[in-house]
Amino acid sequence: MLAAIGAANGGDATAYGADDLSQRAVARLCELAGAREAYLVFNGTAANVLGLSLLLRPFDAVICAETSHLNVDECGAAERVLGCKLLTVPTPDGKLTPRLVESRLDGLGDQHRAQPRVVQIAQLTELGTCYSLAELAELRACCDANGLFCYIDGARLANAAAHLGCSVADIAGCADVLSFGGTKNGALAVEAVLVMGDEVATGGVFQRKQLMHLASKMRFLAAQLTALLDGELWLANARQANAMAKRLASAVEPLPGIRLRYPMQGNGVFAEIGQQQAATLQRDWDFHVWSAAADGTCVVRWMTAFDTTEAEVDAFTAAIRDATVSRETNSSRP
Ligand SMILES: Cc1ncc(COP(=O)(O)O)c(C=O)c1O
Repeated sequence: MLAAIGAANGGDATAYGADDLSQRAVARLCELAGAREAYLVFNGTAANVLGLSLLLRPFDAVICAETSHLNVDECGAAERVLGCKLLTVPTPDGKLTPRLVESRLDGLGDQHRAQPRVVQIAQLTELGTCYSLAELAELRACCDANGLFCYIDGARLANAAAHLGCSVADIAGCADVLSFGGTKNGALAVEAVLVMGDEVATGGVFQRKQLMHLASKMRFLAAQLTALLDGELWLANARQANAMAKRLASAVEPLPGIRLRYPMQGNGVFAEIGQQQAATLQRDWDFHVWSAAADGTCVVRWMTAFDTTEAEVDAFTAAIRDATVSRETNSSRP
């Protein structure tokens, strides 16, 4: 990645995306996803804000999972910058379904209520789960039936495509607008917003500039995406991350005192373990405690990446085994 950025540093280039490298990256992204337009931005939060900005009117609302990154971990960016309302829905596994979407449609047409306009999903979801293509098609049909747009937060879309064994276009085809993540898949800092449908308002170039994500030195963002697209590095990276998550999940699932909380369908393992065991592990390993329960257990989030190795997974598994087996031994003492 750094070599690609270094190579892009040779000579002069036209600014603001008019250079050859940027134009080629945009064309290749559009080809990959079957998209009409592509906009490069620096990070995932900006991609979500820009993507949604293309779909929303001033009085609109976005239906999303309560646990979504958009709702929980973007510091209210969409609410502040776009002034939109998020209609959040509790879900068992981070995924919206047509029934859950329809539970937030009762304000449609009521002048006193923000108007549901966009169904926002993430692929992978924030809980590491992955919509099947059939589930995506059902959501698409639900959007069409109710006059809604579909936006996919694709920060981990490569992992989803690798998990499903499908193309980016298979997933993108269900969205009106989506993001395609680079940063979590080996890039230094780049994401793309892809516009699919003809019904989406034009003006992405203006929105991106206003939202402060038009890079003058665009070639350095483009170089990263080109590096990912060349030789399908994006897919190889995602497959590596997924394979390491699978290795971790298979190794820890049989251990006593540990339970996988959500199906492992990408590069995230969410496990229920004792809070004490989590604290012990955290002395040497950096991971997030997702939620804690009154009974002394918690859900932890273990993510793998494009550069995670088998040796790292095995060392972590051994540490988990030590922490959980000693807990079981202690709790079985009279
Ligand atoms: C699903 C999802 N969307 C968006 C983002 C935001 O990305 P960034 O941190 O680059 O703004 C993240 C980051 O963790 C994410 O996991």
